[in-house]
Amino acid sequence: MTIATQQQVIHEEETTAMARFPLARPRRLRATPALRRMVRETSLDAGDFIYPLFVTHGQDVARPIASMPGVSQLSVDRLPAVVEAVAKLTVPAVMLFGIPESKDPVGLENFDPDGVIPRAIRAIKEAVPELVVITDVCLCEYTDHGHCGLLNTANGDARPHAYLPEGYVLNDETLPVLVRVALAHAEAGADIVAPSGMIDGMVGAIRTALDGADFAHVPVMSYAVKYASSFYGPFRDAAEGAPKFGDRKSHQMDPANAREALREAALDVAEGADFLMVKPALPYLDVIRLLRDKFPQLPLAAYNVSGEYAMIRAAAANGWLDERGAVLEALTGIRRAGADLIITYHALDAARWLQEG
Ligand code: PBG
Repeated sequence: MTIATQQQVIHEEETTAMARFPLARPRRLRATPALRRMVRETSLDAGDFIYPLFVTHGQDVARPIASMPGVSQLSVDRLPAVVEAVAKLTVPAVMLFGIPESKDPVGLENFDPDGVIPRAIRAIKEAVPELVVITDVCLCEYTDHGHCGLLNTANGDARPHAYLPEGYVLNDETLPVLVRVALAHAEAGADIVAPSGMIDGMVGAIRTALDGADFAHVPVMSYAVKYASSFYGPFRDAAEGAPKFGDRKSHQMDPANAREALREAALDVAEGADFLMVKPALPYLDVIRLLRDKFPQLPLAAYNVSGEYAMIRAAAANGWLDERGAVLEALTGIRRAGADLIITYHALDAARWLQEG
C-alpha cells in the first residue's frame, strides 16, 4: 500500500468515527492566550513565596555563596535594603538562617537574645513591620559537630545512653534546646517559628512552651516531612551547617518512603502544627499531593531547596535551558502538586517575572 492509499484509508476511518462521535479537540481551549488563561487550573503568585535569607556577623558583609549564584550571606545591617526589595515585590515572608560567630557542642548562640537571628529579626521588623518573619529552629548551624541535636557523646566518664551508638543524635535531650531557641526567636519578634530538625516531639514541645510564655499567638510551621536528601548540599555551604561526620539518616526520612510521611504529618498535626511542610519539593511531588489530600485542614508549604535551585541556575548559566521558563514551570508544578506556599531562592526573580507578565 502506498503512503497515499494508507492516508486515504485512515482518513475514511476517521471520517466515519467522527460522524458517530464528535472528535474531542482539547486544542480548541489552547488557541489563544485569553482562552489558555481562562482554563488555567493552577495559579502562581508572589504571595505564595517565602524567601530564605542567610544572616551572618560583621558589618556591611554580602558574601556570595559559590554553589548558589545570586544568594549571599548578609550581615544584619544589609538586611533592611533586602527586605524592602522583598516587600516591594509583594513577597509576604522571609525565612531566616543564622551563621553564628562561634560554634560549640550545644550551639549556645542559638538561644542568645543577642545572637545573630534575634538581631536580624529586630532589624527586619524595624525596616518592614508587615513582613512575616519565619525563623529556622535547628541546631546544625550552631553546633561544632554540625548535627541537628545533642549527641550521645561521653562527657566525663560515660555517654548518656550506653545502648545508643556514639554520636547518635539524642531526641528528648534535644527538645529543651529547641524550646529555648523558639522562645528566643519569639521574644525577638519572630512571627512564625519553623523547627526543621525532624526530632520526635519537637512541635509539641515548642507549642507547649510558646503557650506557657505568652506566645500562644505564634504559629509553628513544622518541617513535618523532611527527607535525608543530597539536594541540601549547597545550603550546607551557605549556612555552614554540614555534619562533621556521619549523616542525618537517623532522623531525616528515607527518600524511598511516602506512607511514613503520613505518620510524621499526623503526629505534627496532633502536636499543634499550624503549617506542614514537605522538603525537598521537586523529587517529592507525590508526597506533596499525598499530604494535600490527607491533611486538607492545614496550609502546606514545600521547600524548593538549594540543590534544586543550583541545578537550574547552573544549567541556565551554561545556556542549556531558559531560566525564566524553567523556574516558573518548576514552581507551578510544586503548586499543582498541592503546595500552598513555596520556600524558594527563586522568589525575587519569579516575583519580578510574574509582575512583568
Ligand atoms: C537544617 C536545614 C537544612 C536545610 C534547611 N534547614 C539542611 C539540612 O537539613 O542539612 C536545607 C535547605 C536547602 O537545602 O535549601 N537547619
